[in-house]
Amino acid sequence: MTDVVTSHSIAAGYSEAAPDYDAAVHYNLEGARRLVAALPDRGYRRVLDVGCGTGAGSLAMANRFPSVREITGVDPSAGMLDGFRARLDPLGDVRVSLVEAGVDDMAVADDAFDAAIMTMSFHWFPRKSEATRRIARALAPDGIVAAVLPGRGVDEEFRRLLAEVEPPNMAFLGSFQAAPRSLHQMEGYLEGAGLEVLDLWTERRLRRSTVDAYLERMRVVAGHLGRAMAPDALERNLTALRARMEDAAGPRGFEYEFCKLFVIARRPG
Ligand SMILES: C[S@@+](CC[C@H](N)C(=O)[O-])C[C@H]1O[C@@H](n2cnc3c(N)ncnc32)[C@H](O)[C@@H]1O
Repeated sequence: MTDVVTSHSIAAGYSEAAPDYDAAVHYNLEGARRLVAALPDRGYRRVLDVGCGTGAGSLAMANRFPSVREITGVDPSAGMLDGFRARLDPLGDVRVSLVEAGVDDMAVADDAFDAAIMTMSFHWFPRKSEATRRIARALAPDGIVAAVLPGRGVDEEFRRLLAEVEPPNMAFLGSFQAAPRSLHQMEGYLEGAGLEVLDLWTERRLRRSTVDAYLERMRVVAGHLGRAMAPDALERNLTALRARMEDAAGPRGFEYEFCKLFVIARRPG
């Protein structure tokens, strides 16, 4: 049931950027820790990490909960799974399993996990209601699902500049339109999958960055969105975008607001 074009190009884009991922997105790693810090205090043993990437969420789980014994990481990107293995293997007493697949195709058991986490991955899932139902099915009764993802208004300053440059990168612009979710939408997915929402909140941060660091973050998290353009058009687009960002940057760098949604829900026991 995979979206052939979308999943393959996302997987290829993430694999290409995987060696640079952790250095470029330290904010994602910190967001994963804040999500895990908010989970109900329990003796989770079996963890499912969907869109696991290089393992930020799983590592946060293992660090907070010494009870964790088995972690299954699911991701369509082989390069990101290599990073996951490298990060998680040193946890000698935790059994790590990797599933190279998208959420729609993942071969994981039903009723099998005490916790399922999604850290900055849910927004890439092409069918969100189905994905939520699939993950709910994988949870054991009374299991917990938790996610952090971009919220509405994320990277608004960048998106405004992106919309002004020619030739336009329609895939990138479209993803800003389509990816972020509201709290009510998230509640709808969770309740539609038969889950009981325990907590649901937004965080909005002011960030400053160099233009280079900002564009590097975009390259590692959304590099595949440039693949729809011819290389010379992409080059012109990036040059124009960079110039606008430099103009917009103040003495403290390029300033923007980043919005994250956090959700925690439970499968009724
Ligand atoms: C921004 S990274 C987040 C990685 C990691 N969870 C973290 O917190 O750093 C998004 C991840 O979602 C994965 N992904 C994209 N589409 C997916 C899909 N349909 N199903 C599962 N994972 C997907 C990507 O390959 C990538 O590793």
